[in-house]
Amino acid sequence: MFPKKTGKLSYMSYDNFFEKQLNILKAEGRYRVFADLERHANTFPVATWHSSHGPKQVVVWCSNDYLGMSQHLEVVDAVIKSAQSYGAGSGGTRNISGTAHLHVELECTIAALHEKEAGLVFTSGYVANEATLCTLAKGLPDCVAFCDEKIHASMIQGISHSRIPKHVFSHNNLDQLRQQLSAYDKAKPKLIAFVSVYSMEGDFAPIEAICDLAEEYNALTYLDEVHAVGIYGKGGAGLANALNQQHRIDVIQGNFAKAYGVIGGYVTGSKNLVDYVRSFASGFIFTTSLPPMVASAAIKSIQVLQQADDLRQKLWDNVNLLKKLLGNTQVNYRNTPSHIVPVVIGDAIICKNFTDSLLNDFGIYAQPINYPTVPKGMERMRLTVTPHHTEEMIRQMVDALSYLWGKFFLKKAG
Ligand SMILES: Cc1ncc(COP(=O)(O)O)c(C=O)c1O
Repeated sequence: MFPKKTGKLSYMSYDNFFEKQLNILKAEGRYRVFADLERHANTFPVATWHSSHGPKQVVVWCSNDYLGMSQHLEVVDAVIKSAQSYGAGSGGTRNISGTAHLHVELECTIAALHEKEAGLVFTSGYVANEATLCTLAKGLPDCVAFCDEKIHASMIQGISHSRIPKHVFSHNNLDQLRQQLSAYDKAKPKLIAFVSVYSMEGDFAPIEAICDLAEEYNALTYLDEVHAVGIYGKGGAGLANALNQQHRIDVIQGNFAKAYGVIGGYVTGSKNLVDYVRSFASGFIFTTSLPPMVASAAIKSIQVLQQADDLRQKLWDNVNLLKKLLGNTQVNYRNTPSHIVPVVIGDAIICKNFTDSLLNDFGIYAQPINYPTVPKGMERMRLTVTPHHTEEMIRQMVDALSYLWGKFFLKKAG
């Protein structure tokens, strides 16, 4: 493909531009290579990797299917039965023929889970955040937003699209948040956006202290519980529930794609707030709704996890074993309070080579995490052990990490 020329002008070659940008990513070690995986419904966390040398069995160590619910027999059965009864798609937006009884049931289920008056379902957690935050921020007159620096990209997008003024406070820094809040009149509408379990750090938000500040300065609280629902709190109701703070959060957002193992996102809150979002959010109004079979699977998964303390216990047993074994090595892991265990390597190219070795030489899949997901110099793996990893798999993982750590001459952080 050659640039077209007319007279002295030479027009841009679009394809050259794209190639150049991709080459920059490759040179920085940030080019994303997707592992071509085939997950099997009955062998989780073992999957088939379609490598350039042919298919190979690997153990997945970085899935957000934290409890393996995507393969749970009752959840899979709910999808099959629902597809047979109601078909594959929803038939439209919620407004135009796309509201199924299962959507209504799912919204009642999530509202009850978080003890809120109402719930609203979106096609993903990303859309739930983007649409709700944008709608609230834009709609509240003269609103100002306050965001933790590590909130998810979907939350940043939502607030940015609203174009309201925003303050970013450094991660979990309550003094800075107080300082920012106190610069405004108490009567001015304010929105604090934060996350309960930060997925790249594996740490928690100080939920109670943020609620105290919100009360003091009359701010609305918006909490993303995507990495917490299903795992923390009573019956998997989330971290705010576990800390007895659920009633103090105005909007609890979550999704069905991580511990619940399906897809879709939601918000819960007061009847009026949820109805306002339902009535004004473009990302809710103008898109086809979730297929009823997905809603059915999400309801089943929530119901199963409401009674699954034994599965959660097995998760924690494995998380604790992983952290204990890593503690006896030089591997630079973070001893987090959560089920997520980051292993920080600190260089994009080494991180990519390290994870390639894990995959090629040990049959272990843990993808590298690079900028902009984490800051440059903080490249890492993000390990997620599940209740379905065996003790043997955990020991093999720690041995492989420890061996490669030495081979790559990596150091433990001081
Ligand atoms: C904190 C957080 N919020 C929201 C999302 C988006 O959720 P979904 O994958 O359902 O779009 C993610 C996804 O990784 C996330 O980490």
